[in-house]
Amino acid sequence: MTGIVRGAPVPFDAPVYVTRPLLPPLDAVTARLAEVWSTQQLTNIGAQHDRLEAALRAHLAVPNLSLFTNGTLALFTAIRALALSGEVVTTPFTFPATPHALSWSGITPVFCDIDPVSLNLDPAAVARAITPRTTGILAVHVYGTPCDVEALQQLATLHGLRLIYDAAHAFGARVDGRPIGTFGDATMFSFHATKLFHTAEGGALACGDAALKRTIDDLRNFGIHGPDAVDAIGLNGKMTELQAALGLCVLAQLEGELATRRRLLARYRERLGSLDGVTWLPGPTGADASCQYAVIRVDATRFGCSRDVLHRELQAYNVFTRKYFHPLCVDYACYRDLPSAARSNLPVASRAVQEVLCVPLYGGLSEGDVGRICDMILVIRERAAHDRVAGAGLASRGE
Ligand SMILES: Cc1ncc(COP(=O)(O)O)c(C=O)c1O
Repeated sequence: MTGIVRGAPVPFDAPVYVTRPLLPPLDAVTARLAEVWSTQQLTNIGAQHDRLEAALRAHLAVPNLSLFTNGTLALFTAIRALALSGEVVTTPFTFPATPHALSWSGITPVFCDIDPVSLNLDPAAVARAITPRTTGILAVHVYGTPCDVEALQQLATLHGLRLIYDAAHAFGARVDGRPIGTFGDATMFSFHATKLFHTAEGGALACGDAALKRTIDDLRNFGIHGPDAVDAIGLNGKMTELQAALGLCVLAQLEGELATRRRLLARYRERLGSLDGVTWLPGPTGADASCQYAVIRVDATRFGCSRDVLHRELQAYNVFTRKYFHPLCVDYACYRDLPSAARSNLPVASRAVQEVLCVPLYGGLSEGDVGRICDMILVIRERAAHDRVAGAGLASRGE
């Protein structure tokens, strides 16, 4: 305990962040690095790379996979490989990399509203956003909750559009048992250190078409097709041997990490599942869930104080939640003047972004830690209720 804050003991000596990377045993990493040293090949698609690519292809149950140095470059490459141009319909409720990958490629992102339950692209809104300039849809499986893949595919087929999924949060997720990387034309994964499976920095593209995989592999390597041929304007997106070696070690620990995260998620739901003013996102459960985030929505009126106040108050108890994905992409200076950025176009996203809060979730937490985080949420809620009666304090702060 590190003292008393506003009448309640602070339960954590050190900050508890929203996530912490899965760190495999250092001797396992060292052994893999020794293999890399023995080959003297640090990058350019070496043995560790090929081993990880094959292992992940099997793990994700996708026909083709290409590893990248990060997820953002994988997205850039998907956009180029599928020859998107003009306008692409996407969500405002995501990480900056999603719309930036379009803009950086000279494409106008057209933002449309999200579904109030899944917080993923609303297919009806997508349909309304399609114009003669639209060449594709870039959808995000936000927090690992799968999009309405059937409806989006129907729209893409009907209008002759390419469909790319940003599955940065959806490693290992499934839709009724079908692997998440098997939908659309291509699916991007991020292996950033904040992700369940990671390579410190890293990413991948999955696709069903073997010819598309060959194009992606060339684009990932400057467009080099063979010793004497550069066939396209590519970039350098190759995953190094060091990243791949780390990834193989992380993959070996994944089942244990997932089992712990499942237990922690169950504990959160048990403690906060029926709390008035707190809603859990309904994503898939059991083997179909990515377990990437633990996300609640805070209804300020019913909970007693706003999401922002809860976020700030938890920090006083050493609990550092994140307001992912606040602000909406349409609030960035680079997008706010787009016609599709008008708030009237995005009522559902505009509300969700005020309510979502990611609470800590990683294998290094114990069930006791989750219990203590829930205790602090209840303490803050009770204090807000008390203040409301007294007409002062947390509840009356206009945040
Ligand atoms: C939804 C989403 N898309 C794309 C990215 C970018 O991935 P990376 O950090 O691997 O470039 C992230 C990163 O966290 C993300 O959350």
